[in-house]
Amino acid sequence: MKMWSGRFRQALDPEFERWQRSFGFDRRLLKCEILASSAHARALKTAGILSSDELISILQGLKQIGEKAAGSAEFLDDDEAEDVHHFVEKQLVALIGETGYKLHSGRSRNEQIATDLRLYVRAAIDQLRQELSDLCSVLVDRAERAADAAMPAYTHLQRAEPVLLGHWLLAFVEMFLRDADRLADCRKRLNVCPLGSGAVAGATIALDRAFMADSLGFDGATGNSIDATSDRDFALEFVNALSLVALHLSRWAEEMILFSSQEYSFVILPEAYSTGSSAMPQKRNPDLLELVRGKSAGILGNATALMVALKGLPLAYNKDLQETQKPLFDSSDTLMQMLPLATEWMKAVEFNEDRMSEAAQSGFMNAWAAATYLVKRGVPSRLAHERIGKAVQMCMERGCELQDLPLAELQALSPAFDEDFYESLKLASVLAVHDVAGGTAPSRVRQAIAITKQKIDSLREEAHAHA
Ligand code: ARG
Repeated sequence: MKMWSGRFRQALDPEFERWQRSFGFDRRLLKCEILASSAHARALKTAGILSSDELISILQGLKQIGEKAAGSAEFLDDDEAEDVHHFVEKQLVALIGETGYKLHSGRSRNEQIATDLRLYVRAAIDQLRQELSDLCSVLVDRAERAADAAMPAYTHLQRAEPVLLGHWLLAFVEMFLRDADRLADCRKRLNVCPLGSGAVAGATIALDRAFMADSLGFDGATGNSIDATSDRDFALEFVNALSLVALHLSRWAEEMILFSSQEYSFVILPEAYSTGSSAMPQKRNPDLLELVRGKSAGILGNATALMVALKGLPLAYNKDLQETQKPLFDSSDTLMQMLPLATEWMKAVEFNEDRMSEAAQSGFMNAWAAATYLVKRGVPSRLAHERIGKAVQMCMERGCELQDLPLAELQALSPAFDEDFYESLKLASVLAVHDVAGGTAPSRVRQAIAITKQKIDSLREEAHAHA
């Protein structure tokens, strides 16, 4: 039986009937639906609508539906179920008879879908934060193993200054830790329970909303039934937080692709995550990275789709809201697959440290440190900059580096130059001079590694506590 057929004289057009169903995609909410329905059933008993026996039989029926679904995928092959709510009602009645119809007393699918989705997103957040922490762990591990290996850092994609390889890897950890934080923030706001909001005006039975919220692990009940049944802010926040994860993964992928090209040759692509060319026998292509970059587009698109779907909606529930589920599931699924693969790639990649270190020591990457040498000898910064600029110009004319200029010529540029200038140009000195918190001096990077490890540990613990 349909959940709403009483007032209709005509059957639905079969084409339309099939088209409007959501069971094809909302079946994944079955677990959440069973949890929420069990909480509702208990509240119905307290409100005097169900007897103890009826409650027991409904709870057992719901449990059995969950078990059957876990046992065989075919159980979910149902061509009649309109959505997950209808499916559960049908199955319940098939299992326990007409008592099953009592479960819907005083409630509406509008509050159910709002509740199921919150439960689903909450679990997805916990899992994604776990996956982000795994990726961060590998990045920090690689940073630690790289020890004092150096590489060029770029601004405007032009060689800027040398940094530690570890410092570069930690930059990505910062992004992913912010993402984990953003998801935690989204979780805080979503963790309220719409059950008892009814269709729009509140349940028609005096249900204990605090009890239902509590039994589902929510922090409390939502404050307004009109808002609760039409609010999808939590979904929007979620897909937008996921857009940032995708965007960061895409930037990470792009950087690795660039550095793996022969022109850089910093990154040696792991064969297990690359493919060849059907035409050019020599090729090894960065497929995993390219697909990360490519699939990120869909995730950004999903956030836009959701925003546009909600933008013009009058209060409260409208069927349009059914369409908000797909982009949400897609973004979440895509990242659940992408993150562990990115983690494995990061474990397997090799860095060409010799080449990176060589690149870190040419192209005047010590020029700012050279100017700092003069500044520390009292030369005003702007003038020091200008003097070193002149020295660079001389080098370019001769095809050499700053350390190749004789002291006499340097002293002609500025009397502040002395013998120890050459020491300050060496890679180790150039790195060490960036001795500030968050800078690339090796001692600072070691400090950052320790701090970052602690952050990852607490992220792990939090994710664990929620599991
Ligand atoms: N399948 C619906 C959805 O996803 C459930 C809510 C249906 N409510 C209604 N009034 N038709 O939004």
